Amino acid sequence: MSPKPVSRRGFLGVVGLGAAALAAQGIHPDQVFQGFDGGGLSMASSGRVLLKPSLKIADVEINMRAATAIRPILPGNPTQVLTYEASLVKGNSSNLVTLPDNYLGPIIRVRQGQRLKVNFTNDLPEDTTVHFHGPCIPSNMGGHPHGADVVHPGKKFTYEFDILDPAAPYWFHPHPDLRTAFQVYYGLAGLCLISDELEAQAGLDTGEVDVPLVIQDRSFDANNQFIYLSTNMGMMGMMGMMEGFLGDRILVNGKPDYVQTLAPGTYRLRLYNGSNARTYRLAWQDGTPLLVLGTDGGWLPKPVQRNYVMLAPAERVDLWVDFSARKEGTEVVMQSLPFLSSMMGGMMGGGMMGGMGRGMMGGMMSGTSSLPQGASFQVFKIRIAGTKKRPLVLPTTLAGAAPFQLKDAVNINSPRTIYLGLQRMIWTLNGRVFELDAVAPDEYLPFEQLEVWDFVNNTMIAHPMHIHNVQFNVIERQSNMSASADYQTIRAGFVEEGWKDTVLVMPGERVRILVKFLTYSGMFMYHCHILEHESMGMMRNLMVGEGTHTMDMP
Ligand code: C2O
Ligand code: CU
Ligand code: CU
Repeated sequence: MSPKPVSRRGFLGVVGLGAAALAAQGIHPDQVFQGFDGGGLSMASSGRVLLKPSLKIADVEINMRAATAIRPILPGNPTQVLTYEASLVKGNSSNLVTLPDNYLGPIIRVRQGQRLKVNFTNDLPEDTTVHFHGPCIPSNMGGHPHGADVVHPGKKFTYEFDILDPAAPYWFHPHPDLRTAFQVYYGLAGLCLISDELEAQAGLDTGEVDVPLVIQDRSFDANNQFIYLSTNMGMMGMMGMMEGFLGDRILVNGKPDYVQTLAPGTYRLRLYNGSNARTYRLAWQDGTPLLVLGTDGGWLPKPVQRNYVMLAPAERVDLWVDFSARKEGTEVVMQSLPFLSSMMGGMMGGGMMGGMGRGMMGGMMSGTSSLPQGASFQVFKIRIAGTKKRPLVLPTTLAGAAPFQLKDAVNINSPRTIYLGLQRMIWTLNGRVFELDAVAPDEYLPFEQLEVWDFVNNTMIAHPMHIHNVQFNVIERQSNMSASADYQTIRAGFVEEGWKDTVLVMPGERVRILVKFLTYSGMFMYHCHILEHESMGMMRNLMVGEGTHTMDMP
């Protein structure tokens, strides 16, 4: 394999297209889940099972537009944002939750086996697409930024697909060429919570029990307007593109200093990292362990407990919380603990955990925000109020499919290897950057065959790698930093017992995954989900099940 030099785009050109254009307009799992035996799954089967596509008429139909708008976020002046506005055409009121006065949303709740139709209108002054992040859907519905899939200003696009996946917390966001980071930062993102019969029978898929919390970071100017990268930020803008943009305010569900009021009872909290570049190291402030039911692709084979959970951009985690014994007025704080984000900073600065003792390079890499990557802060608060609810017990039938096994992969001895790199200030995948329709020989994949892949990160910052249209298993992490106490601390926060569509690859790490594309062939993308990296070109196409290069490994 011979990496091609980077050529596609001028770096500052990307930074420069900016805001100006817009301005013109604690419990042990075994105690809670007594008798949890991994559900009724036979041990013989591994891998998620998807439904077969149908040709039926959509069960749930939504009209949705992307538009510029003004929304209250901070006290005082409202903020110019981009937002999705949606209304229900067909379905019932539980299928669509809109968030009034919020740039975020809507929340689409659909059931496995339903068919979803979204009549989308682009009322932005620039191209966009809508990408449903996580579920398996046809290639031409995936919001690819090429050809007929681009939705030009004033134009419409119908996204229509069957919900084949098991229950999981998915989301959707724009995916236009060069502009994803910008459009998401300014507000375009919504949730797509897929449920299934078992969850519904257990009453676990209603807004009363199931509480989504989307964590994002933003920066504001003195007039409460978003600050994002622009050319006049000079070196700051450059560094922002290098590290990804880090805001200095934490927003949850589109609001600062977020407080979620909950009655004494049991809940599932669906934490989404909707940030462009920030990774969180989440923990309850009072030291209660986190009880994790699921990850990106849904239920784990059985719940696991962690003292803290690493949540990188685009990752999701499904937490079970039991507040039934908490007294009225109690506050429970979710915080992000300090961690080392850049090996360079740690190695040169010495003080790996403090975030303060970074060396020259580490300081530059974190130079864009007063809240650097790896800093410690409060994320949100839960306030207990109201009448006590009857505690829920999870049925043991709610369990994710058994993970794939390495022995079943077709390329055990020659993993498909993706090197994450940096060439002349541009992030690359196997030495290449994104080109709209380009597929390199080693980017052709077999269809419905299990493959082993390695992501190898020899750069100095972590990259959350995402593959479209598939849920994979992480089976191994090898790190040349593994001996350090700091790495061990981060390591303990990965939840990789189940299904993932995004995996954080730390500096110096080789992360091994098992991947099997199901149901739909065609062109899909894989990329770093630090959105500034994605928009700069740290993204490539995959051609699944088509073409002649099927097993041509790098
Ligand atoms: Cu959230 Cu291309 O993905
Ligand atoms: Cu995606
Ligand atoms: Cu990256």
